[in-house]
Amino acid sequence: MSQEYFKSPKKKGKLAVFLSGRGSNFIAIHDAILEGKINAEIALVFSDKTDAPGLKIAQQRKLDTLSLNPKDFNSKQEYEQEIIKELKNRKIDLICLAGYMRILSPHFCRQFTNAILNIHPALLPAFPGLNVQRKALEWGVRYSGATVHFVTPDVDMGPIVLQAVVPVKQDDTEETLSQRILKEEHKIYPEAIKLYFEGRLEIRNRLVYIK
Ligand code: GRF
Repeated sequence: MSQEYFKSPKKKGKLAVFLSGRGSNFIAIHDAILEGKINAEIALVFSDKTDAPGLKIAQQRKLDTLSLNPKDFNSKQEYEQEIIKELKNRKIDLICLAGYMRILSPHFCRQFTNAILNIHPALLPAFPGLNVQRKALEWGVRYSGATVHFVTPDVDMGPIVLQAVVPVKQDDTEETLSQRILKEEHKIYPEAIKLYFEGRLEIRNRLVYIK
């Protein structure tokens, strides 16, 4: 889905953060913005879950929030169409998936080519999908980590922007490994967004180059 050549824009970006849960990555991104580390503003925090803890935090932080329940729509297509409308109304430059538990359709991805990022708690292309910390433990890998990547219709397979590596310890549980990875997620996700709006990300033939 990525075009052959893409250069990220150098501008003050308008972000939409999508989340379904606790929102610790959203908080890391917002904190980095408040500290002046990223040239962007969060113009929308969107959730598919009205009771997502991350959404509550966004409200407390006085950010514009929106939650839409897919069950209130006749189809996924209608649901996504409504989200797309809200995003276009706000002139969103970049969507950051941060624990958003729904798969975006190819149509949705095409509306925002090279303008959707995701954070994944493994070293892609190893362990795509769900419960990946558990899978890492089951495989006995010595290292795992986190990946920020562009979102394309191929789930978890878009161009890789940044990765961080963490060791897997012999006495790790899913919880301890997740925590070690999460600490790195909170560093590389804001960093990737910063690079994006510094106009420093280029995609050529699906590889990301950092200028
Ligand atoms: C993170 O582990 C992220 O990598 C994955 O979902 C989790 C979201 O956590 N995509 P949080 O809601 O940001 O705390």
